[in-house]
Amino acid sequence: MQTSDVVIIGAGAAGLMCAFVAAGRGRRVLLLDHANKAGKKILMSGGGRCNFTNLYTEPANFLSGNPHFCKSALARYTQWDFIALVAKHGVPYHEKKLGQLFCDNKSSDILGMLLDECREAGVELRLETRIEQIERSESGYRLHTSAGAVACQSLVIATGGLSIPTLGATGFGYQVARQFGHSVLPTRAGLVPFTLTDPQLKALCGELSGTSVEDCLVSCNGQRFRENILFTHRGLSGPAILQISSFWQPGDTVEINLLPHLDLLEWLTAQQRERPNSELKTLLAELFTKKMAGLLAEHWFVSKPLKQYVPAELEAIAERLSCWSLVPSGTEGYRTAEVTLGGVDTQEVSSKTMESRKSPGLYFIGEVLDVTGHLGGFNFQWAWASGFAAAQYV
Ligand code: FDA
Repeated sequence: MQTSDVVIIGAGAAGLMCAFVAAGRGRRVLLLDHANKAGKKILMSGGGRCNFTNLYTEPANFLSGNPHFCKSALARYTQWDFIALVAKHGVPYHEKKLGQLFCDNKSSDILGMLLDECREAGVELRLETRIEQIERSESGYRLHTSAGAVACQSLVIATGGLSIPTLGATGFGYQVARQFGHSVLPTRAGLVPFTLTDPQLKALCGELSGTSVEDCLVSCNGQRFRENILFTHRGLSGPAILQISSFWQPGDTVEINLLPHLDLLEWLTAQQRERPNSELKTLLAELFTKKMAGLLAEHWFVSKPLKQYVPAELEAIAERLSCWSLVPSGTEGYRTAEVTLGGVDTQEVSSKTMESRKSPGLYFIGEVLDVTGHLGGFNFQWAWASGFAAAQYV
Protein backbone atom coordinates (compact mmCIF):
# COMPACT_ATOMS: atom_id res chain seq x y z
CA MET A 1 0.00 0.00 0.00
CA GLN A 2 1.30 3.44 -0.92
CA THR A 3 1.57 5.87 1.99
CA SER A 4 1.52 9.61 1.89
CA ASP A 5 1.26 12.37 4.48
CA VAL A 6 -1.52 14.09 2.58
CA VAL A 7 -3.95 12.89 -0.07
CA ILE A 8 -5.96 15.56 -1.87
CA ILE A 9 -8.92 14.45 -3.98
CA GLY A 10 -9.62 16.94 -6.79
CA ALA A 11 -6.91 18.62 -8.86
CA GLY A 12 -8.91 21.79 -9.49
CA ALA A 13 -8.19 25.30 -8.28
CA ALA A 14 -8.34 24.60 -4.55
CA GLY A 15 -6.66 21.18 -4.71
CA LEU A 16 -3.68 22.44 -6.76
CA MET A 17 -3.11 25.40 -4.42
CA CYS A 18 -3.34 23.22 -1.31
CA ALA A 19 -1.02 20.62 -2.87
CA PHE A 20 1.99 22.82 -3.61
CA VAL A 21 1.70 24.88 -0.43
CA ALA A 22 1.54 21.73 1.73
CA ALA A 23 4.39 20.11 -0.24
CA GLY A 24 6.36 23.34 0.24
CA ARG A 25 6.05 22.72 4.00
CA GLY A 26 7.76 19.38 3.50
CA ARG A 27 4.64 17.20 3.46
CA ARG A 28 4.48 14.29 1.00
CA VAL A 29 1.42 15.10 -1.10
CA LEU A 30 -0.51 12.85 -3.48
CA LEU A 31 -3.06 14.71 -5.62
CA LEU A 32 -5.74 12.50 -7.21
CA ASP A 33 -8.33 13.29 -9.85
CA HIS A 34 -10.65 11.12 -11.89
CA ALA A 35 -10.38 13.41 -14.93
CA ASN A 36 -7.75 13.03 -17.63
CA LYS A 37 -6.52 16.58 -17.04
CA ALA A 38 -6.05 18.81 -13.97
CA GLY A 39 -7.86 22.13 -13.65
CA LYS A 40 -10.40 21.79 -16.46
CA LYS A 41 -12.57 24.57 -15.02
CA ILE A 42 -9.58 26.88 -14.82
CA LEU A 43 -9.04 26.32 -18.55
CA MET A 44 -12.70 27.08 -19.34
CA SER A 45 -12.97 30.02 -16.99
CA GLY A 46 -13.37 33.67 -17.85
CA GLY A 47 -14.14 32.86 -21.48
CA GLY A 48 -10.70 31.21 -21.80
CA ARG A 49 -8.86 34.03 -20.02
CA CYS A 50 -9.45 33.02 -16.36
CA ASN A 51 -10.76 35.80 -14.14
CA PHE A 52 -8.37 34.60 -11.43
CA THR A 53 -9.14 37.09 -8.64
CA ASN A 54 -10.78 40.41 -7.85
CA LEU A 55 -8.98 43.50 -6.53
CA TYR A 56 -11.92 44.28 -4.24
CA THR A 57 -12.42 40.85 -2.69
CA GLU A 58 -14.08 40.98 0.70
CA PRO A 59 -16.32 38.66 2.72
CA ALA A 60 -19.42 40.56 1.54
CA ASN A 61 -18.82 39.07 -1.92
CA PHE A 62 -19.71 35.58 -0.69
CA LEU A 63 -22.95 33.76 0.05
CA SER A 64 -23.04 31.15 2.80
CA GLY A 65 -25.37 29.92 5.52
CA ASN A 66 -22.55 31.07 7.81
CA PRO A 67 -21.31 34.40 6.37
CA HIS A 68 -18.45 34.72 8.88
CA PHE A 69 -16.82 31.45 7.85
CA CYS A 70 -14.88 32.77 4.85
CA LYS A 71 -13.36 35.76 6.66
CA SER A 72 -10.35 34.14 8.25
CA ALA A 73 -9.07 32.31 5.17
CA LEU A 74 -9.66 35.31 2.91
CA ALA A 75 -7.67 37.49 5.30
CA ARG A 76 -4.75 35.06 5.45
CA TYR A 77 -4.42 34.57 1.68
CA THR A 78 -5.59 37.68 -0.09
CA GLN A 79 -5.99 38.71 -3.72
CA TRP A 80 -2.61 40.45 -3.33
CA ASP A 81 -0.94 37.16 -2.42
CA PHE A 82 -2.29 35.52 -5.56
CA ILE A 83 -1.34 38.55 -7.68
CA ALA A 84 2.21 38.25 -6.28
CA LEU A 85 2.31 34.60 -7.37
CA VAL A 86 1.05 35.52 -10.85
CA ALA A 87 3.68 38.27 -11.07
CA LYS A 88 6.45 35.88 -9.90
CA HIS A 89 5.60 33.64 -12.84
CA GLY A 90 5.51 36.56 -15.25
CA VAL A 91 1.91 35.86 -16.27
CA PRO A 92 0.61 38.96 -18.03
CA TYR A 93 -2.81 40.17 -16.84
CA HIS A 94 -5.11 43.17 -16.84
CA GLU A 95 -8.13 44.53 -15.00
CA LYS A 96 -11.13 44.17 -17.28
CA LYS A 97 -13.61 46.05 -15.10
CA LEU A 98 -14.83 46.23 -11.50
CA GLY A 99 -11.54 44.88 -10.16
CA GLN A 100 -11.77 41.67 -12.22
CA LEU A 101 -8.27 40.45 -13.15
CA PHE A 102 -7.96 38.38 -16.34
CA CYS A 103 -4.99 36.82 -18.15
CA ASP A 104 -3.83 38.80 -21.19
CA ASN A 105 -3.31 35.50 -23.00
CA LYS A 106 -4.98 32.27 -21.91
CA SER A 107 -6.28 30.54 -18.80
CA SER A 108 -3.58 27.91 -19.40
CA ASP A 109 -1.08 30.47 -18.06
CA ILE A 110 -2.70 30.13 -14.62
CA LEU A 111 -3.01 26.34 -14.80
CA GLY A 112 0.59 26.08 -16.05
CA MET A 113 1.74 28.23 -13.14
CA LEU A 114 -0.04 26.04 -10.58
CA LEU A 115 1.28 22.84 -12.17
CA ASP A 116 4.83 24.26 -12.21
CA GLU A 117 4.52 25.07 -8.50
CA CYS A 118 3.28 21.52 -7.84
CA ARG A 119 6.18 20.01 -9.80
CA GLU A 120 8.78 22.16 -8.04
CA ALA A 121 7.35 21.32 -4.63
CA GLY A 122 7.34 17.58 -5.43
CA VAL A 123 3.58 16.96 -5.51
CA GLU A 124 2.67 13.59 -7.02
CA LEU A 125 -0.24 14.13 -9.39
CA ARG A 126 -2.23 11.11 -10.46
CA LEU A 127 -5.01 11.57 -12.99
CA GLU A 128 -7.71 9.17 -14.25
CA THR A 129 -7.91 7.66 -10.79
CA ARG A 130 -11.26 6.56 -9.41
CA ILE A 131 -11.79 6.67 -5.67
CA GLU A 132 -13.74 3.55 -4.78
CA GLN A 133 -13.84 3.63 -1.02
CA ILE A 134 -12.57 5.69 1.90
CA GLU A 135 -12.26 4.46 5.46
CA ARG A 136 -10.74 5.69 8.68
CA SER A 137 -7.57 4.01 9.89
CA GLU A 138 -5.66 4.31 13.17
CA SER A 139 -3.33 6.94 11.77
CA GLY A 140 -5.67 8.67 9.35
CA TYR A 141 -7.46 7.44 6.24
CA ARG A 142 -7.22 4.53 3.82
CA LEU A 143 -8.39 4.93 0.24
CA HIS A 144 -9.16 2.21 -2.27
CA THR A 145 -8.63 3.59 -5.73
CA SER A 146 -8.56 2.23 -9.27
CA ALA A 147 -4.76 2.53 -8.99
CA GLY A 148 -4.46 0.64 -5.69
CA ALA A 149 -4.70 1.40 -1.99
CA VAL A 150 -3.29 4.55 -0.40
CA ALA A 151 -2.94 5.44 3.28
CA CYS A 152 -2.55 9.00 4.55
CA GLN A 153 -2.66 11.09 7.72
CA SER A 154 -4.63 13.95 6.22
CA LEU A 155 -7.30 13.68 3.57
CA VAL A 156 -8.42 16.82 1.72
CA ILE A 157 -11.68 16.90 -0.23
CA ALA A 158 -11.37 19.42 -3.08
CA THR A 159 -13.85 17.93 -5.52
CA GLY A 160 -15.79 21.16 -6.14
CA GLY A 161 -19.50 21.47 -6.84
CA LEU A 162 -22.00 20.03 -9.28
CA SER A 163 -21.81 22.58 -12.06
CA ILE A 164 -20.85 21.41 -15.52
CA PRO A 165 -20.69 17.62 -15.20
CA THR A 166 -18.94 17.41 -18.58
CA LEU A 167 -15.94 19.12 -16.92
CA GLY A 168 -15.70 16.34 -14.34
CA ALA A 169 -18.04 17.71 -11.65
CA THR A 170 -19.58 15.13 -9.31
CA GLY A 171 -21.31 15.07 -5.94
CA PHE A 172 -18.47 12.96 -4.56
CA GLY A 173 -17.42 15.53 -1.95
CA TYR A 174 -20.93 15.66 -0.50
CA GLN A 175 -21.00 11.86 -0.34
CA VAL A 176 -17.71 11.78 1.61
CA ALA A 177 -18.97 14.54 3.90
CA ARG A 178 -22.11 12.55 4.73
CA GLN A 179 -20.08 9.39 5.23
CA PHE A 180 -18.13 11.12 8.00
CA GLY A 181 -21.18 12.63 9.69
CA HIS A 182 -21.37 16.05 8.06
CA SER A 183 -24.54 17.86 7.04
CA VAL A 184 -24.74 19.01 3.45
CA LEU A 185 -26.91 22.08 2.86
CA PRO A 186 -29.24 21.86 -0.13
CA THR A 187 -27.43 22.62 -3.38
CA ARG A 188 -28.62 24.59 -6.40
CA ALA A 189 -27.13 26.13 -9.51
CA GLY A 190 -25.69 29.65 -9.11
CA LEU A 191 -24.34 32.23 -11.57
CA VAL A 192 -26.62 30.71 -14.17
CA PRO A 193 -28.85 32.05 -17.00
CA PHE A 194 -32.62 32.26 -16.53
CA THR A 195 -35.07 30.39 -18.74
CA LEU A 196 -38.54 31.67 -19.67
CA THR A 197 -41.65 29.78 -20.70
CA ASP A 198 -44.10 32.68 -21.13
CA PRO A 199 -44.54 32.38 -24.91
CA GLN A 200 -44.54 36.14 -25.59
CA LEU A 201 -41.52 36.82 -23.43
CA LYS A 202 -39.66 33.83 -24.81
CA ALA A 203 -40.41 34.95 -28.35
CA LEU A 204 -39.12 38.46 -27.60
CA CYS A 205 -35.90 37.13 -26.04
CA GLY A 206 -35.50 34.64 -28.88
CA GLU A 207 -35.77 37.34 -31.52
CA LEU A 208 -33.24 39.42 -29.60
CA SER A 209 -30.92 36.48 -28.96
CA GLY A 210 -27.33 37.71 -28.86
CA THR A 211 -28.33 41.33 -28.14
CA SER A 212 -27.00 42.81 -24.91
CA VAL A 213 -28.10 45.92 -23.03
CA GLU A 214 -24.99 47.52 -21.59
CA ASP A 215 -26.15 49.11 -18.37
CA CYS A 216 -29.04 47.49 -16.48
CA LEU A 217 -30.00 47.38 -12.84
CA VAL A 218 -31.32 43.93 -11.94
CA SER A 219 -32.93 43.32 -8.53
CA CYS A 220 -34.40 40.41 -6.61
CA ASN A 221 -34.88 39.68 -2.92
CA GLY A 222 -33.26 42.93 -1.81
CA GLN A 223 -30.09 42.39 -3.91
CA ARG A 224 -29.21 44.49 -6.93
CA PHE A 225 -26.50 44.34 -9.57
CA ARG A 226 -25.72 46.95 -12.21
CA GLU A 227 -24.11 45.41 -15.29
CA ASN A 228 -25.12 44.28 -18.75
CA ILE A 229 -27.76 41.67 -19.60
CA LEU A 230 -27.90 39.41 -22.63
CA PHE A 231 -30.93 37.98 -24.42
CA THR A 232 -30.70 34.29 -25.31
CA HIS A 233 -32.88 31.78 -27.15
CA ARG A 234 -33.90 30.30 -23.81
CA GLY A 235 -34.23 33.53 -21.80
CA LEU A 236 -31.78 35.93 -20.18
CA SER A 237 -28.10 35.85 -19.34
CA GLY A 238 -25.21 38.32 -18.99
CA PRO A 239 -23.32 39.36 -15.82
CA ALA A 240 -26.21 41.14 -14.05
CA ILE A 241 -28.51 38.15 -14.59
CA LEU A 242 -25.88 35.60 -13.50
CA GLN A 243 -25.23 37.62 -10.34
CA ILE A 244 -28.89 37.87 -9.38
CA SER A 245 -29.54 34.18 -10.17
CA SER A 246 -27.61 33.26 -7.01
CA PHE A 247 -30.22 35.13 -4.94
CA TRP A 248 -33.26 33.87 -6.87
CA GLN A 249 -35.57 31.07 -5.77
CA PRO A 250 -38.25 29.52 -8.00
CA GLY A 251 -41.31 31.76 -8.12
CA ASP A 252 -39.44 34.97 -7.25
CA THR A 253 -39.94 38.08 -9.36
CA VAL A 254 -36.91 39.73 -10.95
CA GLU A 255 -37.01 43.44 -11.74
CA ILE A 256 -34.92 44.94 -14.50
CA ASN A 257 -34.31 48.63 -15.02
CA LEU A 258 -33.19 48.74 -18.65
CA LEU A 259 -32.09 52.39 -18.36
CA PRO A 260 -30.87 53.10 -14.81
CA HIS A 261 -28.73 56.02 -15.97
CA LEU A 262 -31.77 57.96 -17.20
CA ASP A 263 -34.81 59.60 -15.58
CA LEU A 264 -36.94 58.18 -18.35
CA LEU A 265 -40.18 60.05 -17.74
CA GLU A 266 -38.35 63.37 -17.64
CA TRP A 267 -36.49 62.44 -20.83
CA LEU A 268 -39.63 61.30 -22.67
CA THR A 269 -41.49 64.46 -21.66
CA ALA A 270 -38.61 66.63 -22.89
CA GLN A 271 -38.50 64.73 -26.19
CA GLN A 272 -42.27 65.15 -26.61
CA ARG A 273 -41.80 68.90 -26.20
CA GLU A 274 -38.79 69.17 -28.51
CA ARG A 275 -39.64 66.60 -31.23
CA PRO A 276 -43.42 66.08 -31.15
CA ASN A 277 -43.50 64.41 -34.57
CA SER A 278 -40.87 61.75 -33.82
CA GLU A 279 -42.19 58.24 -33.36
CA LEU A 280 -41.56 56.31 -30.14
CA LYS A 281 -39.75 53.62 -32.16
CA THR A 282 -37.26 56.19 -33.48
CA LEU A 283 -36.67 57.51 -29.99
CA LEU A 284 -36.10 54.06 -28.49
CA ALA A 285 -33.53 53.37 -31.21
CA GLU A 286 -31.40 56.08 -29.58
CA LEU A 287 -31.41 54.10 -26.34
CA PHE A 288 -31.30 50.49 -27.60
CA THR A 289 -30.27 48.75 -30.82
CA LYS A 290 -32.58 49.45 -33.76
CA LYS A 291 -33.85 45.88 -33.72
CA MET A 292 -34.60 45.96 -30.01
CA ALA A 293 -36.32 49.34 -30.30
CA GLY A 294 -38.51 47.97 -33.08
CA LEU A 295 -39.42 44.84 -31.13
CA LEU A 296 -40.17 46.75 -27.92
CA ALA A 297 -42.36 49.17 -29.85
CA GLU A 298 -44.17 46.19 -31.39
CA HIS A 299 -44.48 43.89 -28.33
CA TRP A 300 -44.75 46.31 -25.42
CA PHE A 301 -46.08 49.62 -26.72
CA VAL A 302 -48.04 51.18 -29.55
CA SER A 303 -45.58 53.27 -31.54
CA LYS A 304 -46.94 56.61 -32.68
CA PRO A 305 -45.71 60.22 -32.91
CA LEU A 306 -44.82 61.54 -29.48
CA LYS A 307 -47.39 64.34 -29.58
CA GLN A 308 -50.16 61.71 -29.54
CA TYR A 309 -49.24 60.31 -26.10
CA VAL A 310 -51.06 61.59 -23.02
CA PRO A 311 -48.92 61.95 -19.85
CA ALA A 312 -50.28 58.71 -18.35
CA GLU A 313 -49.12 56.79 -21.44
CA LEU A 314 -45.61 58.25 -21.18
CA GLU A 315 -45.58 57.30 -17.51
CA ALA A 316 -46.54 53.73 -18.42
CA ILE A 317 -43.74 53.53 -21.00
CA ALA A 318 -41.20 54.87 -18.49
CA GLU A 319 -42.46 52.44 -15.85
CA ARG A 320 -42.24 49.43 -18.17
CA LEU A 321 -38.67 50.19 -19.26
CA SER A 322 -37.36 51.09 -15.83
CA CYS A 323 -39.21 48.40 -13.91
CA TRP A 324 -39.56 45.36 -16.19
CA SER A 325 -40.92 42.73 -13.87
CA LEU A 326 -40.71 39.05 -14.77
CA VAL A 327 -40.83 35.65 -13.13
CA PRO A 328 -38.27 33.32 -14.73
CA SER A 329 -39.57 29.79 -15.19
CA GLY A 330 -36.24 28.39 -14.04
CA THR A 331 -32.52 28.41 -14.68
CA GLU A 332 -30.38 26.49 -17.14
CA GLY A 333 -29.24 24.42 -14.14
CA TYR A 334 -25.92 22.71 -13.54
CA ARG A 335 -25.40 22.21 -17.28
CA THR A 336 -24.21 25.81 -17.65
CA ALA A 337 -24.00 27.18 -14.08
CA GLU A 338 -20.64 28.58 -13.04
CA VAL A 339 -21.05 27.53 -9.43
CA THR A 340 -23.02 25.46 -6.95
CA LEU A 341 -24.70 27.18 -4.03
CA GLY A 342 -24.94 25.27 -0.75
CA GLY A 343 -22.75 22.27 0.05
CA VAL A 344 -20.83 21.05 3.09
CA ASP A 345 -22.16 22.94 6.12
CA THR A 346 -19.40 25.24 7.36
CA GLN A 347 -20.70 25.08 10.94
CA GLU A 348 -18.99 21.69 11.17
CA VAL A 349 -15.65 22.79 9.67
CA SER A 350 -12.93 24.92 11.28
CA SER A 351 -12.64 28.30 9.55
CA LYS A 352 -8.99 28.44 10.59
CA THR A 353 -7.82 25.05 9.33
CA MET A 354 -10.70 23.81 7.09
CA GLU A 355 -10.57 20.61 9.16
CA SER A 356 -13.71 18.65 9.89
CA ARG A 357 -15.05 18.98 13.42
CA LYS A 358 -16.53 15.50 13.00
CA SER A 359 -13.59 13.51 11.71
CA PRO A 360 -10.03 14.61 12.58
CA GLY A 361 -7.62 14.71 9.65
CA LEU A 362 -10.39 15.27 7.10
CA TYR A 363 -10.42 18.67 5.34
CA PHE A 364 -12.80 20.41 2.92
CA ILE A 365 -11.71 23.25 0.63
CA GLY A 366 -13.06 25.22 -2.32
CA GLU A 367 -16.51 25.03 -3.81
CA VAL A 368 -17.55 21.80 -2.09
CA LEU A 369 -18.08 23.96 1.00
CA ASP A 370 -21.16 26.14 1.43
CA VAL A 371 -19.28 29.28 0.32
CA THR A 372 -20.15 30.82 -3.05
CA GLY A 373 -18.72 33.99 -4.51
CA HIS A 374 -20.29 36.62 -6.68
CA LEU A 375 -19.27 36.70 -10.33
CA GLY A 376 -15.93 38.41 -10.94
CA GLY A 377 -13.00 36.25 -9.76
CA PHE A 378 -14.30 35.73 -6.22
CA ASN A 379 -14.83 31.98 -6.57
CA PHE A 380 -11.22 31.38 -7.54
CA GLN A 381 -10.07 33.64 -4.71
CA TRP A 382 -12.04 31.41 -2.33
CA ALA A 383 -10.45 28.31 -3.85
CA TRP A 384 -6.94 29.79 -3.44
CA ALA A 385 -7.58 31.08 0.11
CA SER A 386 -9.26 27.94 1.47
CA GLY A 387 -6.63 25.73 -0.19
CA PHE A 388 -3.86 27.81 1.34
CA ALA A 389 -5.47 27.72 4.80
CA ALA A 390 -5.78 23.92 4.84
CA ALA A 391 -2.24 23.55 3.50
CA GLN A 392 -0.85 25.06 6.72
CA TYR A 393 -2.36 22.28 8.86
CA VAL A 394 -2.56 19.07 6.79
P1 FDA B 1 -12.96 22.53 -9.25
O1 FDA B 1 -14.26 22.25 -9.87
O2 FDA B 1 -12.06 23.52 -9.85
O3 FDA B 1 -12.11 21.18 -9.13
C1 FDA B 1 -12.68 19.99 -8.68
C2 FDA B 1 -11.83 18.83 -9.19
O4 FDA B 1 -12.30 17.63 -8.56
C3 FDA B 1 -11.97 18.63 -10.68
O5 FDA B 1 -10.67 18.54 -11.25
C4 FDA B 1 -12.73 17.31 -10.81
O6 FDA B 1 -12.34 16.55 -11.94
C5 FDA B 1 -12.36 16.60 -9.53
N1 FDA B 1 -13.34 15.62 -9.09
C6 FDA B 1 -14.68 15.77 -9.00
N2 FDA B 1 -15.25 14.62 -8.59
C7 FDA B 1 -14.23 13.73 -8.42
C8 FDA B 1 -14.20 12.36 -8.02
N3 FDA B 1 -15.31 11.68 -7.75
N4 FDA B 1 -13.00 11.75 -7.98
C9 FDA B 1 -11.86 12.41 -8.28
N5 FDA B 1 -11.83 13.70 -8.67
C10 FDA B 1 -13.02 14.35 -8.73
N6 FDA B 1 -14.60 31.51 -11.04
C11 FDA B 1 -13.85 32.65 -11.01
O7 FDA B 1 -13.48 33.09 -9.94
N7 FDA B 1 -13.52 33.28 -12.18
C12 FDA B 1 -13.89 32.81 -13.40
O8 FDA B 1 -13.52 33.37 -14.45
C13 FDA B 1 -14.72 31.65 -13.44
N8 FDA B 1 -15.19 31.17 -14.63
C14 FDA B 1 -15.90 29.99 -14.67
C15 FDA B 1 -16.34 29.49 -15.89
C16 FDA B 1 -17.04 28.29 -15.94
C17 FDA B 1 -17.53 27.77 -17.25
C18 FDA B 1 -17.28 27.57 -14.73
C19 FDA B 1 -18.00 26.26 -14.75
C20 FDA B 1 -16.85 28.08 -13.52
C21 FDA B 1 -16.17 29.29 -13.46
N9 FDA B 1 -15.74 29.82 -12.24
C22 FDA B 1 -15.01 30.99 -12.23
C23 FDA B 1 -15.95 29.09 -10.97
C24 FDA B 1 -14.66 28.33 -10.60
O9 FDA B 1 -14.23 27.59 -11.72
C25 FDA B 1 -14.91 27.38 -9.43
O10 FDA B 1 -15.52 28.06 -8.37
C26 FDA B 1 -13.58 26.78 -8.95
O11 FDA B 1 -13.00 26.05 -10.00
C27 FDA B 1 -13.80 25.87 -7.76
O12 FDA B 1 -12.58 25.28 -7.43
P2 FDA B 1 -12.53 23.85 -6.74
O13 FDA B 1 -11.09 23.47 -6.71
O14 FDA B 1 -13.29 23.86 -5.49
O15 FDA B 1 -13.31 22.89 -7.75
